Amino acid sequence: MSESYELPRVNGDRLWSRLMEMASVGATAAGGCNRQALGDLDMAGRALFKGWALAAGCEIREDAIGNVFARRAGSDDALPVVMTGSHLDTQPTGGKFDGVYGVLAGLEAIESLHDRGLRTRHPLELCVWCNEEGSRFPHAMMGSAVWAGKLPLAAARQLTDRDGVSVDAELVRLGFPAEMVPRSAVKAALEAHIEQGPILEQHSKTIGVVTGVQHMSRHEVVLHGREAHAGPTPMDARKDPVRGLADLLPALYAMTAAHGPQARLTIGFIETRPGSANTVPGLLRFTVDLRHPEADHYAALKVGLRSLVTDTLQTHGLEGATRCLWEAPGVSFDRTCISAVRDAVRTLGFEAMEMVSGAGHDSCNVSDVAPTAMIFVPCAGGLSHNEAESATPRDLEAGANVLLLALLTLAS
Ligand code: HGY
Ligand code: MN
Ligand code: MN
Repeated sequence: MSESYELPRVNGDRLWSRLMEMASVGATAAGGCNRQALGDLDMAGRALFKGWALAAGCEIREDAIGNVFARRAGSDDALPVVMTGSHLDTQPTGGKFDGVYGVLAGLEAIESLHDRGLRTRHPLELCVWCNEEGSRFPHAMMGSAVWAGKLPLAAARQLTDRDGVSVDAELVRLGFPAEMVPRSAVKAALEAHIEQGPILEQHSKTIGVVTGVQHMSRHEVVLHGREAHAGPTPMDARKDPVRGLADLLPALYAMTAAHGPQARLTIGFIETRPGSANTVPGLLRFTVDLRHPEADHYAALKVGLRSLVTDTLQTHGLEGATRCLWEAPGVSFDRTCISAVRDAVRTLGFEAMEMVSGAGHDSCNVSDVAPTAMIFVPCAGGLSHNEAESATPRDLEAGANVLLLALLTLAS
């Protein structure tokens, strides 16, 4: 890119005001957001986005798994697209910036070009991926996985939430198409996101040049006991799965610690059935989210989980099983895309560092289809998946400017 050309910049005030307006959709009393995938609030957020994208000169289309694509024509429109985007669905007690920032920073980059009448050679495609969080429907990064051909459309549409409502039923109710549209040819893809961890803040950096994502998977453990009366049934005459869990949990955390400070184990959901206070549970079900940046430690965490569950079943005379609900193997991003981000950081003069993402992102799936990289900005205390999630207008604007310049490099 020639230096004489006056480089465009984003409008940070417009970005911030849109982030706050989007945050009002599904706002929670504690200052966060709750827009569950394919729920009415998710649709309201998408409608707000689509209005903005249309006004910025984009064409909108949607696919059979609920992804939204806002396309801005290139001067040579037959060329492969350069993509950006993220997600608008949130955790139940999510924040204002997780996912939303990547969508609205992408929109801000496109609108900044639109404002100046600047046109990239390659078309730009801004994506809103469906059900990235996987909190309502139990497959994270679902929409991008289907788009990338890693998850069959039929399998995704069969996923159900805890009330038994399927993805398919919601997509039909909302009028999404039944068939996938042909995927655009993609030259390169970038995603901006808050870091969701403490590293950038600890190192006083404005930008994370993200070189990859760690290995991760989500597992379901079911322990079957025998329902019995809480009163007359002697403690030594019970088949109580909670008793098994009481031994299993310390062993799981000890196993995690044995794989070093980068190992991650999270038990985010536990339920007993029938869930009555005076009945010994006949069934206990819980989820285990495992992550590690190193393949051997990650594999050992998965093996350790299964063997500790097996030991528990034997020790306590229970039946049960462990099954993997979804897995996203670690990803190394593309050097050319990483260089485009690094060059933009250098041009803009921001403090930056290279890093691997602890969180999963749709870019994990997009990188199966096209050269991909990510841009991180700090969030306060590294806190995310929490209603107190926050980031500064300055950092958010900086990240959007890095995204804009990197997109220009890749699309011009
Ligand atoms: O689980 C994740 O890392 C992402 O937030 N879905
Ligand atoms: Mn996210
Ligand atoms: Mn998230």
